[in-house]
Amino acid sequence: MTFDVRGYAAHSPSDDLVPYRFARRSPRPDDVTIEILFCGVCHSDLHTARNDWRNTVYPVVPGHEIVGRVTSVGPAVTRFRPGDRVGVGCLVDACRHCEACAAGLEQFCQEGPTFTYNSTDRLDRTPTQGGYSERIVTSERFVLRIPDGLDLAGAAPLLCAGITTWSPLRHWQAGPGRRVGVVGLGGLGHMALKLGKALGAELTLFTRSPGKEADARRLGADHIVLSTDAAQMKAVRNRFDLIIDTVPYAHDLNPYLPTLRHDGTLVLVGFLGKLDAMLNTTSLVVGRKAVAGSFIGGLPETQEMLDFCGAHGVTSDVEIIRMQDINAAYARMLRSDVKYRFVIDMASLKAV
Ligand SMILES: NC(=O)c1ccc[n+]([C@@H]2O[C@H](COP(=O)([O-])OP(=O)(O)OC[C@H]3O[C@@H](n4cnc5c(N)ncnc54)[C@H](OP(=O)(O)O)[C@@H]3O)[C@@H](O)[C@H]2O)c1
Ligand SMILES: [Zn+2]
Ligand SMILES: [Zn+2]
Repeated sequence: MTFDVRGYAAHSPSDDLVPYRFARRSPRPDDVTIEILFCGVCHSDLHTARNDWRNTVYPVVPGHEIVGRVTSVGPAVTRFRPGDRVGVGCLVDACRHCEACAAGLEQFCQEGPTFTYNSTDRLDRTPTQGGYSERIVTSERFVLRIPDGLDLAGAAPLLCAGITTWSPLRHWQAGPGRRVGVVGLGGLGHMALKLGKALGAELTLFTRSPGKEADARRLGADHIVLSTDAAQMKAVRNRFDLIIDTVPYAHDLNPYLPTLRHDGTLVLVGFLGKLDAMLNTTSLVVGRKAVAGSFIGGLPETQEMLDFCGAHGVTSDVEIIRMQDINAAYARMLRSDVKYRFVIDMASLKAV
């Protein structure tokens, strides 16, 4: 027996999101049923709603920064109980046995992971639908525990913006004595600053927006560079061990490469696709530098990040909105007018 839930869906790339009723699957023995309390609004939700990646199957209910409370568990569930504070991020399943899955890197599942929305359930082949909704049903293997003491709304963005920046910070060993640059101060960028600071790195924000300086410092940046100012870019040549680039659209990477010190790495997490500007390899070759990518994080690493945030009191700076405000929120996100993550209060769905 499936059950009906209310949510908001996009039905085409150009139409606003609208109220939408759909069926959640009947819980399986290893499933946790979660009442969604808050859901963060990621730029990937917008990319998917607008079909920017040319793979959207409509109607789609976005949302992969989900936090809530467990309402029931299947008989095979061992780690969760009704009432627990839990989260669901970008992944709801994977093959569970390939080399990547065995290593806890489900995001790189060799058979392709099942995403929280715009994906297909591995067993019943129904479309997966995300967190802009009342409830979700997820295998316990893909459910995260939200540490006590963390504000639930502020914790929601950790499920994507948090882990997406945590993973490269950890992989490329950000910490004391390491200089880290962050490109773009949005949802991902502000979490990169907060997490990088908590890890002890020296942080520099690259932004094209004058006026973000005070916020950036408050969020953890030691230095701010206006990326449109050639003199400021020149002043930070040979500086960074790691740069995390969160810009969502195609842009020229060449100005950033000379700012890496030898053996430095520029990690792309924002833009997926083909870059228009040719890469000038001189700076890479002369300096043994790398351009790399990084994609969310696996389940063990996501729990590690949440536990770290619990221990260090790290949450996202959020602006709480009603579900009904989502279209205006997307418009503001496109103008970089977000401080620094919209989070939907799902109680607002009751008024729809
Ligand atoms: N790799 C992954 O696993 C992963 C996971 C989650 C999200 N993403 C992707 O990461 C990107 C960022 O997501 P988000 O939620 O952080 O977005 P966001 O909140 O909109 O922030 C993006 C920031 O990038 C800068 N920016 C925006 N448009 C730009 C442009 N045209 N040129 C230069 N800079 C621009 C702005 O910062 P300034 O004003 O400071 O310049 C903006 O605040 C999205 O493309 C999203 O799909 C990837
Ligand atoms: Zn996301
Ligand atoms: Zn796998």
